[in-house]
Amino acid sequence: MMYDLDYTAAKAALEWQVEMGVDECIGDTPINRYEVDPKKQKLKLGPSSNIAPVTVMPSVPLQDSVVDIAGIMADKCTDLTALRDAMAVFDHCALKKGAKNLVFADGNPVARVMVIGDAPVREEDQQGRPFVGEMGGLLDKMFGAIGLARDGKTAQDALYITNAMPWRPPQNRQPEVGEVSMMLPFLKRHIALVDPDVVVLMGNLACQALLGRKGISRLRGRWAEIDGRSTLPMFHPSALLQDGLKKREAWADLLTLQARLRG
Ligand code: URA
Repeated sequence: MMYDLDYTAAKAALEWQVEMGVDECIGDTPINRYEVDPKKQKLKLGPSSNIAPVTVMPSVPLQDSVVDIAGIMADKCTDLTALRDAMAVFDHCALKKGAKNLVFADGNPVARVMVIGDAPVREEDQQGRPFVGEMGGLLDKMFGAIGLARDGKTAQDALYITNAMPWRPPQNRQPEVGEVSMMLPFLKRHIALVDPDVVVLMGNLACQALLGRKGISRLRGRWAEIDGRSTLPMFHPSALLQDGLKKREAWADLLTLQARLRG
């Protein structure tokens, strides 16, 4: 039987089976072991035999297992380099096919503040770095106003930035829910490895991915938690570029963040 699995997915699926206790390779054709001739079975697996009994795991539906595979791959990563490599070889997200580069992160991972945007657009895709275009310029100004920068050297003045989706969607469309959920185990692992004091969720997509909620106008400026970690939803810079009046609220949220960091 042929499965549409690439090398990495097949390796991850195999490792999962080994972790679950599978200790023998099985063939393409299922064997009903209850039908084996008892005499032959006695010959093979009699008291003098040292052949271990076989454990066969039930099969997992392929669709469900894609998120499981992402989870297994992500959990195995013990540092950011390993996580970046794992994301680069994870081939199940269709957006990867149309993108030029993996947009992993930028800034200093020692930062107390980790910002999560939505998805890369053209410039980010070309450079492989998040928030490098016009939106990036605004984001830098916003956080610069409270003393945080990507090139900050210490936890206190540094900023670390990533996106909910590391691949650029075609025509800059919003990533679909299924695409974001598939990459979510990597995003959660990313947060765990950076271990920031505060996660800033910039816009609806990041809120939907990590809080399971949309409606940034209501969510913004209100502290929430992801897996016990403080989280502050804020307007995305693109919203501020479209509607300058939102800058006032964004400034209030930045002051809220600054107060928490000082407090
Ligand atoms: N560029 C990014 O990297 N992320 C966004 O959310 C928007 C633009």
